[in-house]
Amino acid sequence: MNYTVFGNPIAHSKSPKIHQLFAAQEHATIEYTRTLVDDNPQAFQAAVQQFFAQNGGGANVTLPFKQHAYALAQHHSPRAQAAGAVNTLISQADGTLLGDNTDGLGLVQDLTQNLQFSLKDKRILLLGAGGAARGVILPLLECQPAQFIIANRSPEKAQALAAQFHIQAQTFAELSGCFDLIINATSGSVSGSVPEVPPQIFSGCQLAYDMFYSAQPTAFMQFAAPNGAAHTSDGLGMLVGQAAASYQLWRNFAPQTAPVIAALRKELH
Ligand code: ATR
Repeated sequence: MNYTVFGNPIAHSKSPKIHQLFAAQEHATIEYTRTLVDDNPQAFQAAVQQFFAQNGGGANVTLPFKQHAYALAQHHSPRAQAAGAVNTLISQADGTLLGDNTDGLGLVQDLTQNLQFSLKDKRILLLGAGGAARGVILPLLECQPAQFIIANRSPEKAQALAAQFHIQAQTFAELSGCFDLIINATSGSVSGSVPEVPPQIFSGCQLAYDMFYSAQPTAFMQFAAPNGAAHTSDGLGMLVGQAAASYQLWRNFAPQTAPVIAALRKELH
């Protein structure tokens, strides 16, 4: 069976490696390729249609096409609807495409299983209000936290998401008090910058989680730990978790994520 990931850029994608490790667990043989697509909706639509016309088994979608994939899919899971973005395309028997979004599932799986952090009744702060943040809100809320606050550098974007999901928005400057879990969903980590939040919010914080990952602890992790976060984690486990959820949707097989995370971590160093 053939799978692919569409993106631009895409050469860096770890998805082929991850999915081959899943296939090995299943004792299955799959092909999983990277597809570089010109950055426009027409090129994306043509590439997706061609892939599925040639019996593609399923596809992942990464930046900058997740919203294009949402527009292209004829059917959407509730998760994809809430996210307004699709990272997993599943071919239906009638030839239409179902769009799902497994990013939030990947995050929740990493938090609850790999990091053994139960979300129920916890106080959660989500930093950022772009596509990455929006994609994870519904699955986090489904874990029934006691409190869920979203904060963003541009407050109006946090307010818009707060209104959509019936959660509370605060500005960075307004943040105070304690959170059990602080998640960084800003894209600042890519360039090594940390959201300008009051450092005191990390005191009493059990876990500071960066959705970005790198060989070294991210700038956010390096900021959170000395300011009081008991534990920190990057988002490598989320990456593997979202892939595992996609794999399960396509093949009805639930891969183990821990050995795959360990293999990828080894390669990063
Ligand atoms: P993504 O798909 O990665 O979420 P995005 O939709 O462009 O990308 O959103 C980027 C997010 O990171 C936004 O919340 C952005 O804040 P603004 O809405 O104020 O632009 C946030 N972000 C990026 N760089 C940041 C920085 N240096 N400090 C704080 N927030 C930052």
